[in-house]
Amino acid sequence: MIMSNALKVRGRNTGSVAVATPATRAPHRALAGIVLALSLACVGIAPAIADSRLGPATPLPAYAQECGSCHLAYPPGLLPAASWQALMTGLTRHFGSDASLDGPVAREISDWLSAHAGNGKRAAERPPNDRITRAAWFTRKHREVATATWSRPAIRSSGNCAACHRGAAQGDFDEHAVTIPK
Ligand code: HEC
Ligand code: HEC
Repeated sequence: MIMSNALKVRGRNTGSVAVATPATRAPHRALAGIVLALSLACVGIAPAIADSRLGPATPLPAYAQECGSCHLAYPPGLLPAASWQALMTGLTRHFGSDASLDGPVAREISDWLSAHAGNGKRAAERPPNDRITRAAWFTRKHREVATATWSRPAIRSSGNCAACHRGAAQGDFDEHAVTIPK
């Protein structure tokens, strides 16, 4: 199980989960469950990790459905409210695609995005073209990724977060759970 391994590694790396040390780690379902639970508990208390979980764990169903069909339903915390509003009012010409929605659905999604939009330093200003991938923090966090890597067939675009961040759909972008496909 890739995810639980990643979580165990994360627990060990942060040094905050005593039971995740090799000496006490047993290949045992129940123990693994405890380690997993404790790792998840850390998400709430370790700022560095909390910082890489973005937005509410359960997205609005309409958002997941309508905005997750062509790409990841990006965590709302990755853009400021002004960017989401601009995106939601320009859906007929959405990065070369028509992503238009019926009025009531568009409004429901727009309201939800605004309510859960980023308000930390990552979302201090609108990035160019309201693209997450053009934000200064995104460039900084990904400077180790070579330009050619982004266009690998298994990745295609920097907006394809889930290619490298296995937990992206759950809003988990922890740097210890990153795997770059060949
Ligand atoms: C018909 C397909 C389609 C649908 C539906 C769709 N998108 Fe997109 N979206 C795209 C394409 C294509 C891009 C550009 C991808 C690229 O350049 O890598 C994009 C890019 C984005 C980006 C910028 C990603 C980046 O590069 O940082 C955001 C944010 C976004 N979409 C939000 C939404 C929202 C919100 C919805 C729902 C209202 C939505 N999308 C629905 C096709 C779609
Ligand atoms: C080509 C693979 C790849 C893609 C695609 C990718 N990332 Fe990353 N991401 C990385 C790597 C590598 C790091 C840095 C890990 C490190 O510092 O050790 C990273 C770091 C991050 C971090 C910082 C995590 C932390 O713990 O500080 C965030 C947040 C993040 N990415 C979000 C995203 C988002 C959002 C997308 C999609 C819009 C995305 N990434 C697309 C590879 C990728």
